Amino acid sequence: MSQFGATITGTGSSVPEHRLTNDDLARMVDTNDEWITQRTGIKERRIAKDGETTASLGTAAARKAIEAAGLTPKDIELIVVATITPEMVFPSTGCYIGAALGIPGVPAFDMSAACSGFIYALATGANFIRAGQYKNILVIGAETISRVTNYKDRGSCILFGDGAGAVVLSRTTEPKRGLLYNSLHADGNGGDVMVCPPGSRKPITAEMIAEDGQYMTLRGREVYKFAVTKFEELIHDAMTKCELTVDDVTLIVPHQVNQRIIDSAMSKLGFAAEKAYVNIDRYGNTSAASIPLALDEAWRAGKIKPGDHLVFVAFGAGLTWANAVVRV
Ligand SMILES: CC(C)(COP(=O)(O)OP(=O)(O)OC[C@H]1O[C@@H](n2cnc3c(N)ncnc32)[C@H](O)[C@@H]1OP(=O)(O)O)[C@@H](O)C(=O)NCCC(=O)NCCS
Repeated sequence: MSQFGATITGTGSSVPEHRLTNDDLARMVDTNDEWITQRTGIKERRIAKDGETTASLGTAAARKAIEAAGLTPKDIELIVVATITPEMVFPSTGCYIGAALGIPGVPAFDMSAACSGFIYALATGANFIRAGQYKNILVIGAETISRVTNYKDRGSCILFGDGAGAVVLSRTTEPKRGLLYNSLHADGNGGDVMVCPPGSRKPITAEMIAEDGQYMTLRGREVYKFAVTKFEELIHDAMTKCELTVDDVTLIVPHQVNQRIIDSAMSKLGFAAEKAYVNIDRYGNTSAASIPLALDEAWRAGKIKPGDHLVFVAFGAGLTWANAVVRV
């Protein structure tokens, strides 16, 4: 056991101004507001304009988190960014964010665990703090999923939006404070249900682009079945490991994948629906950004107080899945 814990001292988020509504999508593909609302809970999502990027959204979210923590960028000693839509293949998005924050020399790197990415990054950052190496670090989830979305494919384009969320993780010596528990999982055998091909296996070619092969594809129904079971298991595991009852959990901040998946887990575990913080109606699925974006909204809305227990839960491409319990 480390003498140090890692606790969230500030949160921030940023989304593009441009809204893409279900009615807008119904003019682009064969879909409609009623179908999207009933099947997913999504009403609109934000889409980055030219010049708005994963790093610019991540930087804006980071600035707010740093301010909320009562710190300045100079206090930050490490930047960990979870993203599957990085600024470029390289340099990392973290390097761009470090430069934009004016903190050259501060280590920065990206992590790729799709929609589970924020919890992976949180766990990684917390371990640097527990090891005693750093006191204040930035953990960011930032995405411009619209850049890899095929707006001719109604099965995927209705689901995703762009945005970023960030937290400052700081050293604490208070017992039972901060990240109390987390578990991370992956199974690459299930990888082909959600893929975005360009890379070493399939470099971008003119032929690939002619067939829209540079965009992500997903088999939504299969993901749904996997997610609905995992979601419930992960929340149950988090509560069991931390000996928390339904009443002890203040708020569940789930990956914003589908309102039905969230509702199903909440009812099976005996939670009131309001115990899950949901903003999928306004932002859709923002992948690694979705948990910190929801967390920041809940925090700023006064829904989170010192001593509260929060449960984070996510799953995504990989396949990956993860959970975390944080005591504020
Ligand atoms: C994508 C998702 C909303 C689809 O909902 P679903 O209830 O599983 O719907 P299905 O895929 O079974 O499709 C039902 C019907 O609606 C149709 N449909 C699919 N997309 C549609 C759309 N955008 N608008 C209207 N109809 C649509 C299908 O063609 C199908 O028609 P059929 O019955 O005539 O064959 C749901 O499966 C989901 O949320 N999956 C997880 C999302 C995900 O992968 N997220 C990323 C990883 S975290």
